[in-house]
Amino acid sequence: MSRPLIVGFGGTTRPGSSGERMVAAVLAATAELGAQTTLFGGAALAALPHFAPENPDRTPEQREFVEAVRAADGLVIGSPGYHGGVSGLVKNAIDLLEDLRSDARVYFDGRAVGLVVTAAGWQAGGVTLSALRGIVHAMRGWPTPLGIAVNTVAQKPFDAEGRLVDADIAAQVKAQAEQVMRLAR
Ligand SMILES: Cc1cc2nc3c(=O)[nH]c(=O)nc-3n(C[C@H](O)[C@H](O)[C@H](O)COP(=O)(O)O)c2cc1C
Repeated sequence: MSRPLIVGFGGTTRPGSSGERMVAAVLAATAELGAQTTLFGGAALAALPHFAPENPDRTPEQREFVEAVRAADGLVIGSPGYHGGVSGLVKNAIDLLEDLRSDARVYFDGRAVGLVVTAAGWQAGGVTLSALRGIVHAMRGWPTPLGIAVNTVAQKPFDAEGRLVDADIAAQVKAQAEQVMRLAR
């Protein structure tokens, strides 16, 4: 059996983005369960032009992103809580996925989507996670039962080298990876 493809995107352009690291951690956990993975982090998302519905032209970066999501057997999306919601960087990438609207397998149809939010407070973590769940539902996807909200002030998930060192968050990462993989198989 071929290895399921799990595509992750998210985080911020900030060096050491906790959101990008969290998406990478969930992807790594799916890889341990047999997945092949592709990550579009903050820099890759920043290379996507502002989505314009009237403009059908696509850059190579836009095409690469859309094709990866089209081919995915499962997804992981990570956003910071910015002003109580999904960041513009992440939402711009999601809006580009309008290109999947006419696919037989429309948008995220039939795929599990793991969701991760990093925010400086619990409130933005909760509402942003809820907003992401609404987006995934609108795009016919299946948000995993476990969404992960990390409070980057109260919790320090990563050490200076970027290793995930918080045992509770690591357990959540593993659980979410298992949930993404369950549908991907
Ligand atoms: C423009 C901006 C808006 C933010 N708004 C909120 C907010 O409303 N609530 C909150 O808890 N944190 C807020 N934060 C903090 C970020 O969510 C937090 O630092 C997060 O960990 C950043 O993710 P990163 O480590 O991937 O860059 C904001 C940060 C920025 C830069």
